[in-house]
Amino acid sequence: MTKQIAVELPGLKMKNPLMPASGTFGFGDAWGADKVNFDELGALVVKTTTPAATTGNPQPQIAMLNDGVMNSVGLTNPGVDVVISDKLPKLRQQHPVLPLVGSVGGASKDEYVLVAQKLAKSGLVDALELNVSCPNVAHGGMSFGVDPQMVESITRAVKDVTGTVPVYVKLTPNVTDIVEIARAAEAGGADGLSLINTVLGLRFNLKTRQPVLGNGMGGYSGTAIKPLAIRMVYQVAHATELPIIGQGGIETAEDVVEFFLAGANAVALGAAHFKDINACPHIAAKLPAVLDQLGINSLTELSEQVRN
Ligand SMILES: Cc1cc2nc3c(=O)[nH]c(=O)nc-3n(C[C@H](O)[C@H](O)[C@H](O)COP(=O)(O)O)c2cc1C
Repeated sequence: MTKQIAVELPGLKMKNPLMPASGTFGFGDAWGADKVNFDELGALVVKTTTPAATTGNPQPQIAMLNDGVMNSVGLTNPGVDVVISDKLPKLRQQHPVLPLVGSVGGASKDEYVLVAQKLAKSGLVDALELNVSCPNVAHGGMSFGVDPQMVESITRAVKDVTGTVPVYVKLTPNVTDIVEIARAAEAGGADGLSLINTVLGLRFNLKTRQPVLGNGMGGYSGTAIKPLAIRMVYQVAHATELPIIGQGGIETAEDVVEFFLAGANAVALGAAHFKDINACPHIAAKLPAVLDQLGINSLTELSEQVRN
């Protein structure tokens, strides 16, 4: 049964297609992670890492809504040197065969290059994900990921220093044309794409007349963004050759099949973990029966059909 759901992407040989998305499990040490069955994960994407330690945004950082989650956690992490000297070695030691994806963030192109190079050289990650949703400090705080030229240039600069470690570019949905950005990443030499990151949102508390999040606006994710994510995965799968890690509102085995039908080659889960910290293993366990029911031999067969 397990064979049907195994997938292979650049750098990632996964027993199943499911991985916790960046920001969900910290570095394997997030609150509640002691209850996670890491051996049943296909892979794990760790928290976005920046050159120096970064503290989070003002509280509250999380708002649970009816059909999703709003977060303004920010890029809370201890900085790349501590991640390499402390966080990743512990994770590797505890889970030696689990494919690990490092997530790279920064406030300038040079910062992305620095973090990516250090993570790649550490030998502790199997792949890298470039979180281009970070604000571009030099250009008024607009996210790097909305500018195709910047995405191409960062991707190329990172690829120049990361050797054989595959680089996935994580796309933000907060753009007019996702295909243009995906093609820019491909032109820059990306080995894969990861999409979508959170959708920029805002909610108010009617009594206090203040935003529900301490930082004002925040990233919205969960069930409500699923149709948007599936649409973008579909568009990108038909416009580039790159393998895709699909994400956005996935919480069932049927959702996984739907993302594969749209063109994903693996999937990541974020918001679903607020309901079930073992969402990935639970979905992985259900997938073979759902594939049987739908007359599908393997997930890989689905992705191949989309690309042919
Ligand atoms: C609490 C929280 C923290 C997140 N932190 C990061 C992060 O550090 N880096 C990143 O690339 N994405 C981050 N994300 C986005 C997720 O990785 C994922 O791409 C997005 O939430 C869509 O998936 P979902 O609908 O399953 O949540 C975060 C999401 C949540 C909910």
